[in-house]
Amino acid sequence: MRTIAEFEATARERLDPAHYDYFAGGAQDEITLRENEEAYKRLRLVPRVLRGSDKRDLSVDLLGTPSSMPILVAPTAFHRLAHPDGELATARAAARAGTIMIVSMASTTAIEDIAAAAREVAPDPGLWFQLYLQPDLEFTEAIVRRAENAGVKAFVVTVDSPVLGRRERDDRNAFHDLPPGLAVENLRNIGENRSGGTASHVRDIVMSALNWDHIAWLRSKTRLPVLIKGLLHAEDARLAVHHGVAGIVVSNHGGRQLDTVPATIDVLPEIAAAVGGALPVLLDGGIRRGTDVVKALALGADAVGVGRPVVWGLAAGGREGVSEVLEMLRADFDQALALCGGRHPADLTPDQVRR
Ligand SMILES: Cc1cc2nc3c(=O)[nH]c(=O)nc-3n(C[C@H](O)[C@H](O)[C@H](O)COP(=O)(O)O)c2cc1C
Repeated sequence: MRTIAEFEATARERLDPAHYDYFAGGAQDEITLRENEEAYKRLRLVPRVLRGSDKRDLSVDLLGTPSSMPILVAPTAFHRLAHPDGELATARAAARAGTIMIVSMASTTAIEDIAAAAREVAPDPGLWFQLYLQPDLEFTEAIVRRAENAGVKAFVVTVDSPVLGRRERDDRNAFHDLPPGLAVENLRNIGENRSGGTASHVRDIVMSALNWDHIAWLRSKTRLPVLIKGLLHAEDARLAVHHGVAGIVVSNHGGRQLDTVPATIDVLPEIAAAVGGALPVLLDGGIRRGTDVVKALALGADAVGVGRPVVWGLAAGGREGVSEVLEMLRADFDQALALCGGRHPADLTPDQVRR
């Protein structure tokens, strides 16, 4: 397979249609879902020339975690719906690629097992852990300890989900529960009334009351870097700097939360300006090509995340499929970087992107 679109087509053939829709879909009219990809198509690249070099170096360091390329695995839930090996396959592929996997709290494999699988492949894998903080702070703290003990190197708190977006494809398919045998393994012990592992239980664990005090609380409970994921407003980026978070992820949750919000690439310049280099800026949503990565880095991102492309690789071919997707994106980015006259991700500058 040569493109992410081809991986998606294969995944679609292999998956139960309701599960394909769960992975592919967005909120309501899916305007933002489409816009995330369309926005890249409107941007034009302006290469620099005569800056040749035989060797390019794609590696970056993000808050002390080295990554072989500025393309990370964004946190996505329920990998065992895509392939029986689920998160174990994804973790092995990410470790083999030498890139960071942000493990979803809503994984269908326990964080300890995911970390062990990654460690089979790389002695010191770059695993970060995504958190939905919830009202039961004791439970949150317990999961923070579990993830720390498993060896994760940062926490990524998702802040775009005070409630879950309405995904009409799931309503239409009546997809609200994981099939028997699958569970949200990190949430097994959440409490008497929420001990199961279904999608509707995940709905219960997002926290409407989430505010900056909770971020301060988490920072007081861990020495690991705390990033926040899911902001789109420059003022929130300024507040993130003010509140001392370690990094931010510009994200609209892949168009799955509030429909009609802008494409992430379109708000990136104002957010990068607001942050002014004070902390690393990551971005996800709609990255399908190396040129998309180049545009995001040029406009101020330090790295990007890919969500659905990894799921399509997993569904199409398990660990090998995820490896192929990651290596395809790496090669595509490397080529686009070279054609733009860059040797390193940091060489890309905003003047190389035109509207
Ligand atoms: C099927 C699916 C499940 C997701 N689950 C989570 C999750 O558990 N936690 C989270 O913070 N983001 C989640 N996201 C959002 C992704 O982290 C990311 O923001 C988004 O997928 C990026 O867009 P892309 O799919 O176009 O690359 C999910 C996205 C998808 C498609």
